[in-house]
Amino acid sequence: MYNIPLCEPWFEPSYAEKVRGQILSGQIGPGPVTMEFARRLAAFAKAKYCVLTTSGTVALSLAALALGLKPGDEILVPAYGVVSTINALAFLGLKPRLVDIDQTTGCMSPHELEKRITPQTRGVCFVNFSGYTGQNLVQVAQICRARHLPLIEDAACALGHKFWGKSAGTFGTIGIYSFSVPKIITCGQGGALITNSATLFRKLSQLIDQGDLNWRRTNLIHGIGSNFRFNDILAAFGLVQLGAIDKRITRKKAVFAVFKKMLKRKIFQVPGAVPPLHQIVFTPKPHSLVKYLKRCGISGVRQYRTLSEHPPYANLSDRKFPAADFWTRYAVYLPFGLALETQDAQKIVKALLTSGCKLLDIENL
Ligand SMILES: Cc1ncc(COP(=O)(O)O)c(C=O)c1O
Repeated sequence: MYNIPLCEPWFEPSYAEKVRGQILSGQIGPGPVTMEFARRLAAFAKAKYCVLTTSGTVALSLAALALGLKPGDEILVPAYGVVSTINALAFLGLKPRLVDIDQTTGCMSPHELEKRITPQTRGVCFVNFSGYTGQNLVQVAQICRARHLPLIEDAACALGHKFWGKSAGTFGTIGIYSFSVPKIITCGQGGALITNSATLFRKLSQLIDQGDLNWRRTNLIHGIGSNFRFNDILAAFGLVQLGAIDKRITRKKAVFAVFKKMLKRKIFQVPGAVPPLHQIVFTPKPHSLVKYLKRCGISGVRQYRTLSEHPPYANLSDRKFPAADFWTRYAVYLPFGLALETQDAQKIVKALLTSGCKLLDIENL
């Protein structure tokens, strides 16, 4: 057991009261509270529409389906990161191809994207890595617009982040969020899609509910869908956190301020006022650092890798991805849950500085 675990969520007792009240109300399926959570999320992101679903991964698959992407269609994804993004697309039979990342942001490099687009490319999926919402995303969105390619914005980790006053998730044709445990708002599991397109909203609403919005009333379906709906218990849990999102972000900021003050450019940062979801450092000796942290009771992990290293995606190593390989080799993920206190951050930094492992300056990676 670690004294400081990797990702411990944080809730106020009042959240449990809300969930309890929802259960006692008897309204536990997809209903008015689910609709209210979707409406409030859309308003928060300043998007026209929001559809809730069972996870961020499912949201990504639904985004591709709603955009009309078909098995065999080529979609470009970042070469480094969590498997959920590429899996959500490959699971549908799409053909992902990898684009190297920008080494300082962890996000798809717009320059590399331009080189990887072919006449076969049917879409692009940008991941707002650890919340990053900035220039890389703006440029990727511009490239997609110029090439008439739909852009799926995987903002699973980026709820609350903004760039130039525009919310994460609203730069793409469709944006998605995740409500899994590590996220700023968590329902245990869950996901959301946001878009400004009435047509896509309609398609998504049909896809998550058996293919037809009126089938319960008409006893007839006009399309094929499935059941990927959310429910009012989870929505009550999400809603109360959305109402407290500023407080939740403030907690994160206080902890990140300690890392930033003590590590300066040696801790990964993202643009804007909201800190990254993860706490990431780079060292030439990641194994030794993880071991040392463990001895100090602190969890630290080497997480994520160049996606073509996963056996199902070995065929995607048609070229080298040096920036993705750099992250694979040198990144160490430190504790980052919302339960983290500033004293924990001080202990973690102290352990980093006594570990004997050189930390790399991110500006000069
Ligand atoms: C960037 C990114 N995309 C997609 C997902 C998938 O979300 P979920 O775990 O809700 O399926 C995650 C989850 O961690 C993620 O970090």
